[in-house]
Amino acid sequence: MGQQQQQQQQGEEDNNTNKKKKMMVVVRSRVSLTWTLIHTLVLMSGLCCVGVMGVEMAGRGTLVAVENGTVEAVVLDCPFTLEDEDRFEDLVIKWYHNEEPQPIYQWIPASMPPQALGRFVDVVDEGYLIEEGTSEGSTEAHKHRALRLLNPTTDLTGEYRCQVSSFNNYRTMMHHLVVYRKPEEVNLWTKEIEVNDIDAGQTKAVEVMCMVSDVFPQPTVTLTHTLVSGGHSQELRGIHRRFSSGQGSYSAQVQAEMLDTELEGLTEFHCHVSINNTDVRVTQRTLYQPSMEERTEAVTARGGSVVITALPASLVLMLLVLGAL
Ligand SMILES: *[C@@H]1O[C@H](CO)[C@@H](O)[C@H](O)[C@H]1NC(C)=O
Ligand SMILES: *[C@@H]1O[C@H](CO)[C@@H](O)[C@H](O)[C@H]1NC(C)=O
Repeated sequence: MGQQQQQQQQGEEDNNTNKKKKMMVVVRSRVSLTWTLIHTLVLMSGLCCVGVMGVEMAGRGTLVAVENGTVEAVVLDCPFTLEDEDRFEDLVIKWYHNEEPQPIYQWIPASMPPQALGRFVDVVDEGYLIEEGTSEGSTEAHKHRALRLLNPTTDLTGEYRCQVSSFNNYRTMMHHLVVYRKPEEVNLWTKEIEVNDIDAGQTKAVEVMCMVSDVFPQPTVTLTHTLVSGGHSQELRGIHRRFSSGQGSYSAQVQAEMLDTELEGLTEFHCHVSINNTDVRVTQRTLYQPSMEERTEAVTARGGSVVITALPASLVLMLLVLGAL
C-alpha cells in the first residue's frame, strides 16, 4: 500500500473516530500499534478510498495536566504537512473547545491574522509563533497554528480540537487539557455505631467517613481497609459518594459502614483521593479497634453453608464454666 494511501486512511480516522484518538492520547506508547490496528480496521471496513485528504497531521493528540495558577501558559500544537494539491490560499486553521460550535481561535494564513474569539479573547495569545524547526515546509503556513493559552485556570479544562482545512479536505487533532486544583482538605474519621444487622441482630459497627473539599475536576474517592497485623488492603462494600459543586470546585462526602464482627483486629482505614489524568493522589489513614467483647465465634453448619454467629462474651464464659463442671 502506497504512502499516499496510508495517509488517506489516517485522515478518515482523524475525522471519524475521536474515541480512538482519545485512547491514543492516554496510551501514548502504543501509538504505532494502534495505528496498525486502525489500518487493519479501515481496510476491513472498506473505507480506504473515500475522500481525498491532502493535509496530513504529523503529530498525535496529547494529554496536558497543569495545576491551577502555576504556569504562565500552555501551548497546544496542531502539526500538519501540506500535500502538493493543497493550495496555500485555501488553508484555514481553526480551534474549538469542547462541543461549542463556534471556534475559539482562527487563522487564515493567506489573508487573515490570527484571531481569538468569544470568551477566549483574553486567554489566547494571538501573537504566538511556533518554535523554529517544529514545522515541515514553509513557515508561512504554520507560524500561528498553535493555541497558546495564557495563565490557564480550572475553567479551561476540556477538549481542544484543531481543524486544518484546505478546499474541501480537513483534518482534526484533539488535545485534552486538565487544569486541576488539589483538594484543599481530606479528612477521614471513624465513629462507633450500633446497627441492626439481618444476621447478627443489634450489633456494633463502624461508620467510616471521608470528606474532601475544594478540588477540581471531580475526584475519584475510594475507601479501603487493611488489618494492621498484615494482609491485603480491600475496598469497603456499599460506599456512598455524594459530590457537590460550587464556586468552580467540587467537594465530596464518602461514607461506608462495617460490622465489628467483619474486622479481625486493629484495622487501618484509608481514604484515597485522586484526579483522573493527573498524578494527584492523596491518602488519609485512621486506626480503628473493633470491639472485642463479641469476638468469640461459634461456627454452625446450616444447609451446607457456614454461618458465623457472634455470642456475647458473658454467655461464652458461662458455657465454658458449665463445660468445665
Ligand atoms: C476516572 O476514570 C475512571 C476509569 O477510567 C472512570 O471510571 C471514572 O468515571 C473517572 N472519574 C471521573 C470523575 O471522571
Ligand atoms: C484557579 O485560579 C484562579 C486564579 O488564580 C482562581 O481565581 C480560581 O478560583 C482557581 N480555581 C479554583 C477551582 O480554585
